[in-house]
Amino acid sequence: MTERKTPMLDELEKGPWPSFVTDLKRAAEKNDSVKDLIAQLEQSYEEKKGHWKHGGIVGVRGYGAGVIGRYSDEPEKYPNIAEFHTLRINSPAGWFYDTKTLRNVCDMWEEHGSGLLNLHGTTGDIILLGTKTNELQPTFDAFSDAGFDLGGSGSGLRSPSACCGPARCEWACYDTLDVCDNLTHEYQDEMHRPMWPYKFKFKFSGCPNDCVASIARSDLSVIGTWRDTLRINQEEIKNYANSGMDIQGRVCEKCPTKALTFNSETKELFVKAEDCTRCMHCINVLPKAVRPGKEKGATLMIGGKSTILRSAFLSWVIVPFMPLEAPYTELKDLIARIWEWWDEHGKTRERIGELIYRLGMGNFLRAVDLPPVPQMVKEPRANPYIFWQADEVIKADEATK
Ligand code: HEM
Ligand code: HEM
Ligand code: SF4
Ligand code: SF4
Repeated sequence: MTERKTPMLDELEKGPWPSFVTDLKRAAEKNDSVKDLIAQLEQSYEEKKGHWKHGGIVGVRGYGAGVIGRYSDEPEKYPNIAEFHTLRINSPAGWFYDTKTLRNVCDMWEEHGSGLLNLHGTTGDIILLGTKTNELQPTFDAFSDAGFDLGGSGSGLRSPSACCGPARCEWACYDTLDVCDNLTHEYQDEMHRPMWPYKFKFKFSGCPNDCVASIARSDLSVIGTWRDTLRINQEEIKNYANSGMDIQGRVCEKCPTKALTFNSETKELFVKAEDCTRCMHCINVLPKAVRPGKEKGATLMIGGKSTILRSAFLSWVIVPFMPLEAPYTELKDLIARIWEWWDEHGKTRERIGELIYRLGMGNFLRAVDLPPVPQMVKEPRANPYIFWQADEVIKADEATK
């Protein structure tokens, strides 16, 4: 194969930061498909036009999801990427690996595909980028023997993902890893055999810092929180104050609900518990002195998504507080009701958030049997979606009887 010149891509190797072009060139030394990939990408940059074709059902035995078909639209020019399919491999909860496993992932993928991978895609999976149709089954078999499984794709449940939670983080208000693992096993069918209007994502964050950005990236966001009052260690507050920390300016004044007061004489911090919205700010700034309360659980939020039929949505509160303990029966019961309603009413490519937007939050809440509560309202008078039903209204003449 003749080396092609790539002046535009080469520009992306300049500067002190890591470059994916440098990585691609290194991978190309071992693999001809990456040489063609680089050449096609350079052509795309010149023409400002993508050269990948979707389509064609590709997959492995017994699975309707997890493999994403990709073809070059100039296969004569780039024969080594005429077929260049992606496999999604379900990542472990919290993305924990040992180095032996990671080496094995790399070795298996160099043997069966381009060697290029992406840890981790937006969905959370291990993304194996680029192999031929006849390598799909052998790749899957190798990964399966090593203890991995395919992730979700298409109109089904996508691989759930979770922040590292209690494994490494003291703020975790529930066991994100366990919920993620439990639900992944529970919903194997929904993941591997897509059957819905469109995709559905769960993401689990242990606290409102929301390290997996579940509020923006998942249809059902599960975000840890606490129900009682955050805990303040006054000795550590004094230590912060004595070390020169501007507690009034950096903490109290930045509290979104002005729930905190600092007594600069006694160097004590007080919270007005009913005003705290559990935003994590004071905890993040004063981690040694402030921590979540003791009664922990999660807030469930619905409808987060990127722009598809409608603009991007952040998910919004449907259950202000749910204790999350295995086997998560209350959560699973609610999920079943949500999916049933969406499956029944959703149009093709309509995410749950868009369906709620179309049919109304009031109708959604009644269908899934959740009570409207004040915590669902972002701004008073801004969310006029909860209405009295005809049978709930007492008629004037009846009331006076
Ligand atoms: C230049 C003229 C006006 C200005 C600058 C103005 C400004 C405002 C502002 C800032 C608010 C508070 C909005 C909020 O809290 O979100 C408000 C509320 C209101 N204004 Fe005006 N206003 C003007 C004229 C009028 C007129 C002419 C009327 C009635 C004929 C009116 C009726 C109301 C009502 C009923 C509210 C309460 C709405 C609610 O809370 O839902 N305003 N106005
Ligand atoms: C067909 C005609 C109308 C419709 C469909 C309508 C609809 C609405 C809706 C949906 C709200 C929000 C209610 C909420 O926040 O829960 C609202 C509020 C309001 N409307 Fe109307 N409206 C109509 C006519 C009028 C007229 C003619 C006026 C005044 C001359 C008016 C004055 C107001 C005011 C002042 C509010 C704010 C009430 C508050 O402070 O909460 N509306 N309207
Ligand atoms: S979301 Fe919260 S619990 Fe999870 S890793 Fe981030 S800070 Fe820790
Ligand atoms: S968690 Fe947020 S809202 Fe609550 S007291 Fe701290 S800064 Fe204020």
